[in-house]
Amino acid sequence: METDFTELKEVALNSCPQSLKCKLAERFINLYGKSSKEIQFFQAPARINIIGEHIDYNGGLVFPAAIDKCIYLAIRLRDDSTINYDDIRFPGRFSFDITENFVYKKENGYCNYLNGIITILKSRGHEFPCGFDALFFSCIPDGGGVSSSSAMECCFTAGLSKVYALGIDSIQNAKIGQETEHRFMNVQCGIMDQFIIAMGRKDHAILLDCATLDYRYVPLKLGDYRFVVMNTNKKRQLSDSKYNERVAECKQGLETLNQQLEKHGIQKLSNPCSATEQHLEILRQALDNQTIYRRLRHCITENRRVNLAVQAMGKEDLVQLGKLMNESHQSLRDDYETTGIELDTLHEQANNVDGCLGARVTGAGFGGCAIALVHKDKCAVLMENVGKVYREKIGYNATFFECTTGNGAGIL
Ligand code: GLA
Repeated sequence: METDFTELKEVALNSCPQSLKCKLAERFINLYGKSSKEIQFFQAPARINIIGEHIDYNGGLVFPAAIDKCIYLAIRLRDDSTINYDDIRFPGRFSFDITENFVYKKENGYCNYLNGIITILKSRGHEFPCGFDALFFSCIPDGGGVSSSSAMECCFTAGLSKVYALGIDSIQNAKIGQETEHRFMNVQCGIMDQFIIAMGRKDHAILLDCATLDYRYVPLKLGDYRFVVMNTNKKRQLSDSKYNERVAECKQGLETLNQQLEKHGIQKLSNPCSATEQHLEILRQALDNQTIYRRLRHCITENRRVNLAVQAMGKEDLVQLGKLMNESHQSLRDDYETTGIELDTLHEQANNVDGCLGARVTGAGFGGCAIALVHKDKCAVLMENVGKVYREKIGYNATFFECTTGNGAGIL
């Protein structure tokens, strides 16, 4: 199976959709047999977030990009109501019935995301008159901070929308993924991951205002520089992490702040990212517990950094972008506390490499991935140097890849 996976991955990375579809169809028919119904193919990318971390659920600005590592789906409708899922990398069939009322079950593994999507679609009034066979193939490192799970959700929603003619557009696709996380997976995430995965565009990042969902494509002009993804390989699941705790802390911070603002006769705020320095000072004085104060301080400073980063990108001032990335990491380390020794080691060691303009955790943190902005001639050196120190200090390997941008979820 491993050779099978490697061969398919080669085809996928050579970006040849036609031969990838042929290969996937072969595997699909081996597993599920022939049928008169058509096999259809879909893909969705992973993402990096350049800057704007942990502020999507706080009404802030984020600046992510879709990357060229994707998950693929081959799907075909059936005559009965059975649904089958299988995965080329982690082979094994999971079978359910489309009419079931699904609930989260640990032993269902990745199928929870899929059953979750179906559940949310049903609750939105969509109907599924028959079942299907589905086969996934992912080139995205999982549990790794580049949002493999959101990619699976968006890929699946795009597939279901097409084969059942549900007419779901990309923004709805993103919202369905987020609702699945909230209601099925118990992760109170923001909209960033699903939004960029559904809406991404090659050679661009998106500046997204998470309070309004206003967005703008920003060309990524990196010149001689590249983003390198550095994976801690520290496994974590957001549902077991302190992610929901951070969401709750910010909610509590906003409530306390609003009580204080009311006392001072100042208008209440709808989200932490719209607070000013003055508001923050009012909050600081009102709190015994400075942790909540630091969480909100991160929201405000990070939101400001996103604006500055987008301006820097516009002027092709990558030195300034790198500096802001470093400041973002430090704020997530000291104020928001989502980094830890693995990510801090990657951040520090990357910055020791000549030609690296900055490095930071990307995504939720608590393990997962960091990104570095590096001169193209120094990527290999960075991977080697950072990898060596990481192994010595942490005791296992980090993995690295240079990434380019890609398009959002849709037909392969
Ligand atoms: C995860 C969540 C996102 C976002 C990031 C942190 O990736 O899914 O909504 O909150 O963490 O920025």
